[in-house]
Amino acid sequence: MSGSARATERTSGLSGSAPPRQAGGARSALWSLPGDVYGEMTALARASGAVNLGQAMPDFDGPAVLRTAAAGAMAAGRNQYGPSAGEPELRRAVAERPALAGRYDPEREVTITAGATEALAAAMLALLDPGDEVLLIEPFYDSYPAMVALAGAIAVPVAMERVPPAGAGLSWRLPVDALAAAAGPRTRMIVVNTPHNPTGRVLGPAELGALADLARRHDLYVLTDEVYEELWFDAPHVSPAAVDGLRERTVVCGSVSKSLSVCGWRVGWALAPAELTAAIRVVHRFLSFCAPPPLQLAVAEALRARAAGGYFDTLRETYRRRRDLLAGALVAAGLPAAPAQGSTFLVADTSGWWDGEPLAVARELVRAAGVAGLPLTSFCARGENARGVLRFAFCKDLETLAEAGRRLRSAAPAVAAVPLGGDR
Ligand SMILES: Cc1ncc(COP(=O)(O)O)c(C=O)c1O
Repeated sequence: MSGSARATERTSGLSGSAPPRQAGGARSALWSLPGDVYGEMTALARASGAVNLGQAMPDFDGPAVLRTAAAGAMAAGRNQYGPSAGEPELRRAVAERPALAGRYDPEREVTITAGATEALAAAMLALLDPGDEVLLIEPFYDSYPAMVALAGAIAVPVAMERVPPAGAGLSWRLPVDALAAAAGPRTRMIVVNTPHNPTGRVLGPAELGALADLARRHDLYVLTDEVYEELWFDAPHVSPAAVDGLRERTVVCGSVSKSLSVCGWRVGWALAPAELTAAIRVVHRFLSFCAPPPLQLAVAEALRARAAGGYFDTLRETYRRRRDLLAGALVAAGLPAAPAQGSTFLVADTSGWWDGEPLAVARELVRAAGVAGLPLTSFCARGENARGVLRFAFCKDLETLAEAGRRLRSAAPAVAAVPLGGDR
């Protein structure tokens, strides 16, 4: 990466699209981020007995080998600080995962972190300088703009292309031209999430090629969030780091939160070339120092065991069933859903039911149908393509999803007849 181009004034791109720096600096930019919609919808769902498909937490446990191995490691006294870079067994197991096997040296290029959240944070804090611009593809996971702000950098949101236009179903594409237009001399990084939360998109070869072109042309770091790497349903997930010419400028973040259904364990990783890893490790040392060693050891054992046992094929199959059940229920209730190619989410168009402000629609769905989803606007800075769209998580057991479907179907006829905010 060359630093020289960074010093020049921005001359092209979405002039004025980046939010201005706040007078109080990065922290006030952070405090002005939207409120906790997740928390609000979960509280609302709990209070009213709604089926909560807003929260992305699995309602089932990961493989038993994890709990047995963690208990064993605790009983064996592995309860003190471990190596800050991560337990060697786990670094090796992470480096050997099929998607990127043989591409990263576990000694110098793999860092174990407290979930992908910490990996993303450490990478941004290590690689961004105050004033750098970061391309965020909207809708995006909410930790990205928060960490950009903490790094003193500037988020430049670019909306995913919604095709065909609103009302005629839902499908999203990487906004290649808009990203190119938004990149300027101060742009230092692009954040990519595939498989994608919330749209369920898995980036294909043409989009990955366009990403590589953009990154090379503008000399960008690519920060890739692959927490759903094992949850693809059609074409397999391909890491941007596996695309020609991207490895040297890419940091891959991942975790076992979703793939082993243990999001409370906080075990994740950052993979990056040795020079970038050295910087990331310094930040990680002062953020969390290390992820819990007994849990790291258990994850290492589970990753080895599942590699032999076809665990992820079965996981994908069960998630495919969940996805199909929920997608069918949404469509049957008059809420067309995009076909999720990956992740644990479906996004559905509610405009056939209501035309309202997205958070109001989400609240009304709880009231009218007893089902909670999240407004897509809570994943957006501007939300230009998000109106009327709700996200539903299908990392739930089949009976929970079937109950959500029953509720949606029985609410549909009454809801369709009454405008949002009407007297029901
Ligand atoms: C896109 C995305 N990235 C990161 C995370 C957080 O991952 P972790 O639990 O490993 O910190 C999530 C959690 O839902 C997510 O959806």
